[in-house]
Amino acid sequence: MAVTILCLILTLTLTLLHLHPPLLSAAANLRRTTTLFTPHLNFESTLSSAAAAPPTTLFEVTKPIQLLATAPCSYLLLQHDFAFTYGQPPVLADYKPPPHCPAPNSAKIVLEWTATCKGRQFDRIFGVWIGGAEVLRSCTAEPTAAGIVWTVKKDVTRYSSLLSTDQTLAVYLGNLVDSTYTGVYHVNISLHFYPAEKTASTAADLILPISRNPPLKDGLWFEIENSTHAESKQFRIPLNTYRAVLEIYLSFHENDEFWYGNPPNEYLTANNLTDLAGNGPFREVVVKLDGAVVGAVWPFTVIYTGGVNPLLWRPISAIGSFDLPTYDVELTPFLAKLLDDKPHDLEFSVTNALNVWYIDANLHLWLDEKSVRTQGKLLEHRASDLSLSIISNFTGLDGVFATNASRSIVSSGVVSSSRGEVVTTSLRELGYTSWMTMGNDGNTQVLDQVITFNTSVDSDHRLASSPSSSADAERRFSIWYATNYVDNGDGSYASVANVTLGFEERVRRSGSGTSRVRNVQRAEGSAVARGNLVVRGVGSNHQEYGYTSDKWCYFRNVSNYNYTVLHDEVSNACIKDGFLPYSARRDFRVKKGLIGF
Ligand SMILES: *[C@@H]1O[C@H](CO)[C@@H](O)[C@H](O)[C@H]1NC(C)=O
Ligand SMILES: *[C@@H]1O[C@H](CO)[C@@H](O)[C@H](O)[C@H]1NC(C)=O
Ligand SMILES: *[C@@H]1O[C@H](CO)[C@@H](O)[C@H](O)[C@H]1NC(C)=O
Ligand SMILES: *[C@@H]1O[C@H](CO)[C@@H](O)[C@H](O)[C@H]1NC(C)=O
Ligand SMILES: *[C@@H]1O[C@H](CO)[C@@H](O)[C@H](O)[C@H]1NC(C)=O
Ligand SMILES: *[C@@H]1O[C@H](CO)[C@@H](O)[C@H](O)[C@H]1NC(C)=O
Ligand SMILES: *[C@@H]1O[C@H](CO)[C@@H](O)[C@H](O)[C@H]1NC(C)=O
Ligand SMILES: *[C@@H]1O[C@H](CO)[C@@H](O)[C@H](O)[C@H]1NC(C)=O
Ligand SMILES: *[C@@H]1O[C@H](CO)[C@@H](O)[C@H](O)[C@H]1NC(C)=O
Repeated sequence: MAVTILCLILTLTLTLLHLHPPLLSAAANLRRTTTLFTPHLNFESTLSSAAAAPPTTLFEVTKPIQLLATAPCSYLLLQHDFAFTYGQPPVLADYKPPPHCPAPNSAKIVLEWTATCKGRQFDRIFGVWIGGAEVLRSCTAEPTAAGIVWTVKKDVTRYSSLLSTDQTLAVYLGNLVDSTYTGVYHVNISLHFYPAEKTASTAADLILPISRNPPLKDGLWFEIENSTHAESKQFRIPLNTYRAVLEIYLSFHENDEFWYGNPPNEYLTANNLTDLAGNGPFREVVVKLDGAVVGAVWPFTVIYTGGVNPLLWRPISAIGSFDLPTYDVELTPFLAKLLDDKPHDLEFSVTNALNVWYIDANLHLWLDEKSVRTQGKLLEHRASDLSLSIISNFTGLDGVFATNASRSIVSSGVVSSSRGEVVTTSLRELGYTSWMTMGNDGNTQVLDQVITFNTSVDSDHRLASSPSSSADAERRFSIWYATNYVDNGDGSYASVANVTLGFEERVRRSGSGTSRVRNVQRAEGSAVARGNLVVRGVGSNHQEYGYTSDKWCYFRNVSNYNYTVLHDEVSNACIKDGFLPYSARRDFRVKKGLIGF
């Protein structure tokens, strides 16, 4: 009973404050969560007492943005201190295209977020919107007594049409300050306009936000609370649109922050753990246009800076945590439906969702400047039903759960414009496998999950002078982790969490060749805690990031241990072809026997 009450209290706290669990997650083993989900667990007092030390710089590893050597023309969009901002309206600021800078539609534009924070604070999700269109979804770094600083740079050239006119900037970062959680986030947001390289702009001519309209006391994102909940927005497009792409922003929180580690409900019910997050380990964001499934996103498993064990992510932050990935859905084949000057409806839902998912989108539209009207015809649209199978084999708190899923969506349509007749065919093929084992009376959990996310878009210019084009992408999102909890029996407990996180991508584009990203983190952490106090704790992380293209390559090999960077090597070495071998197969085969595969 005590178990249930503790969890319930914590769930309420989390729901109200969007706080991060201080140490370990519901994804970790069930027994442990009940002990460690203590709202006032204290890390910093033992780990960084030196308030006089210089601030630590935290960073997410990614490739640098390719820029001309010219100095940029910079514009400070916002300078703000986020103190008690939870449940308050987003912070607003006016944007006017800076007259002394290169025109946005002929510039390469970089958004820069820089923030400092000192004291104790949780990680907070935040969003930045321009004219209601989201341009950055991110999570704050967790401060120390000595203070931290971090910078996020994002190429926002694809939003140049928004930046060509006067707009309102909105930033929502729900922070909470009291006598214990003292960290105030001091934030600067700037835009840097670089003279563009010679190539013609490929950015959309118009971006329609598919988000909530202020006034709000929250982010502009929609909040999806459960598996039957859907949110939608009406929009109307110009009659001379010849291409449409929906860009989806999403993040998962509270009961679904670690959705990939949630056990099936039958396991929770059988063990009387009905207050813990369940619904199994599979989630899918479904996008519907006028009621028909046109897109599905199987998200990358972003771990926020306080997730699993915060010591793993200092100072190297988890993949995607400072600049969450977005997902594009090609809607050009459906233009036939949309070119009627009537309102249409885009809807978001999440299969198996638990509270809460933050989702919104930007509809990027390309307009035919040489005609007032384009025409379209839908040639084909097939969205397979989601195929999802779960096999459970457990006794008491121990067992194995194997989950598979797949789905494919094909659409094809023709659009006639002054550019000629173009047939666009979009293909989306998604695959998912997950193995979860619970052992040692629920005190250990091992997860091995792989998502393959393959897309292709072909544009066949039938009668046009411009050449046909194609782009295809293969992505592999993998997460493996092993967590272990030991009750020392003297009021203290030890926990270990090892995590391997991988984001791999191969993109082939006609005209610009093939590019590849292989980004893998291997992190190990342990902590011993007594009551609310961490007695000892240490975390390490080793990351290898490689980017390879026909034009240039970038490689970084960096590791940290106990807050300190041990090794940091940057080069222009090119990575070899092929995705990484499965990291965890060895551990895995042993467990497979349990379920008889
Ligand atoms: C923000 O910009 C101001 C003015 O340039 C500067 O004094 C301040 O240190 C900056 N703050 C951060 C967090 O970068
Ligand atoms: C799901 O969430 C929606 C929105 O809050 C709510 O109206 C609905 O009752 C919920 N459904 C279930 C089954 O909880
Ligand atoms: C779950 O609760 C029911 C009713 O209180 C009890 O009969 C059953 O033994 C409990 N099962 C477990 C695994 O604790
Ligand atoms: C999952 O897919 C693999 C390979 O396609 C197959 O061998 C296995 O039986 C599937 N498992 C389930 C639970 O459907
Ligand atoms: C995605 O592409 C990779 C590499 O070609 C392939 O191994 C994988 O099966 C594909 N996934 C799906 C769901 O089609
Ligand atoms: C984590 O990794 C360390 C070092 O490889 C190993 O000793 C430990 O057993 C691992 N812990 C778990 C829970 O797998
Ligand atoms: C990265 O650095 C580590 C530690 O120096 C080394 O063992 C490893 O081989 C390096 N990886 C690559 C791909 O160079
Ligand atoms: C981690 O660093 C702290 C502060 O420098 C030090 O006191 C502690 O002993 C270190 N822990 C380990 C396991 O190296
Ligand atoms: C379930 O697991 C047990 C071991 O815990 C094993 O003996 C049994 O064969 C498994 N059942 C199936 C259907 O795989």
